[in-house]
Amino acid sequence: MQNFTFHNPTRIVFGENQISQLAKLVPADARILFTYGGGSIKKNGVYDQVVDALKDRPLFEFGGIEPNPRYETLMRAAATVKENHLDFLLAVGGGSVIDGTKFIAAAVEFDGEPWNILAKHAPVTSALPLGCVLTLPATGTESNGNSVITRASTQEKLSFGSPLVYPQFAILDPTTTYSLPPRQMANGVVDAFVHIMEQYLTFPVDAKVQDRFAEGLLLTLIEEGPRSLQEPTNYAVRSNVMWAATMALNGLIGVGVPQDWATHMIGHEITALHGLDHAQTLAIVLPAVMQHQRQQKRDKLIQYGRRVWNLQHADEDQLIDAAIAATRQFFEQMGTPTRLRDYQIETASIDKLVAQLQSHNLLKLGEHGDITLDASRRILELAA
Ligand code: NZQ
Ligand code: ZN
Repeated sequence: MQNFTFHNPTRIVFGENQISQLAKLVPADARILFTYGGGSIKKNGVYDQVVDALKDRPLFEFGGIEPNPRYETLMRAAATVKENHLDFLLAVGGGSVIDGTKFIAAAVEFDGEPWNILAKHAPVTSALPLGCVLTLPATGTESNGNSVITRASTQEKLSFGSPLVYPQFAILDPTTTYSLPPRQMANGVVDAFVHIMEQYLTFPVDAKVQDRFAEGLLLTLIEEGPRSLQEPTNYAVRSNVMWAATMALNGLIGVGVPQDWATHMIGHEITALHGLDHAQTLAIVLPAVMQHQRQQKRDKLIQYGRRVWNLQHADEDQLIDAAIAATRQFFEQMGTPTRLRDYQIETASIDKLVAQLQSHNLLKLGEHGDITLDASRRILELAA
């Protein structure tokens, strides 16, 4: 196991009716900007619960944060914060609203052009405090310091991370997910699954705690993911998926182990150029990464096949083939297609995707830094 420090400052408040806890969780003297997305929270009652919990408090609203949240929109929110002297951000929604709110928190306090936080990794030295109510289990952003932002004008999707943008608290009420359309629920399960794989499917460092946690989370998603589609109001099932998605990317399983993230980096370019949902891009890229990197990942692929899919093949290469096929089949079972062609993306687009990776300096991806531009091209060809 590699050396590490681990600190996750986000207070998780989990369970039905817990949005009412906002009154206690938001600092008493806060001047609040309440951020949300395209309106799902107005239909499922979450908006009313938030407003009710914070009645009599200085509460300003900023709605309309898009999926794959846009820099242009977030800069307008930052202006609202400054104009009204607000000092606390409350994000209510999925990963896009929470990521977007993290960027607002950093942008408001940033000296200079805030795009540089993303494009040049300019250090974030100060950020407004934020909290969140999560309505879509998927990204893990509710208890991590990461944020992914899209600039529409240049078709770029870039990320930043800072300990200063961890939410102070995250309310996770599984009943808020009942209104999710099946495609978004599937996206959440696939995204969380791939987060675990990015931290697990590398090479062994004898990190038994991390491996067993990761395998337990993968099995939870394999068991509960399809059920979450079949029984959308099953509280236990939604609870298990929600907690698994948080645990997948709150830092715990990634400490002391090598990490990959090539699937995410390549996937972000597909979203930026073609507008696919984040998880759809992962379902396309991960099976191809597993195939392309099968020698480098050989030991973990075998472990994964045996422990997670209970595969018994004597021949190790057959076992690896079956593990990759089972992964693809799981995504398909969730209703998330796994080939570029399923989304009408032609092989002719691969050149452009590779050029975007190059322009973002993503030349050495993966846990060994051996996924060069040529390897990324080959991965995209395998995903065609
Ligand atoms: O905008 P509204 O109207 O709220 O509708 C949203 C949106 O259309 C809807 N939705 C959310 N909760 C709902 C609901 N509809 C009905 N009922 C509910 N309870 O779902 C749609 C998608 O929402 P979005 O927030 O975009 O989805 P998700 O949570 O999957 O977030 C995706 C974003 O997170 C980034 C992705 O790149 C993408 O931009 N990621 C962030 C990460 C992080 N910060 O650590 C890691 C991830 O790998 C990922 O990259
Ligand atoms: Zn993801």
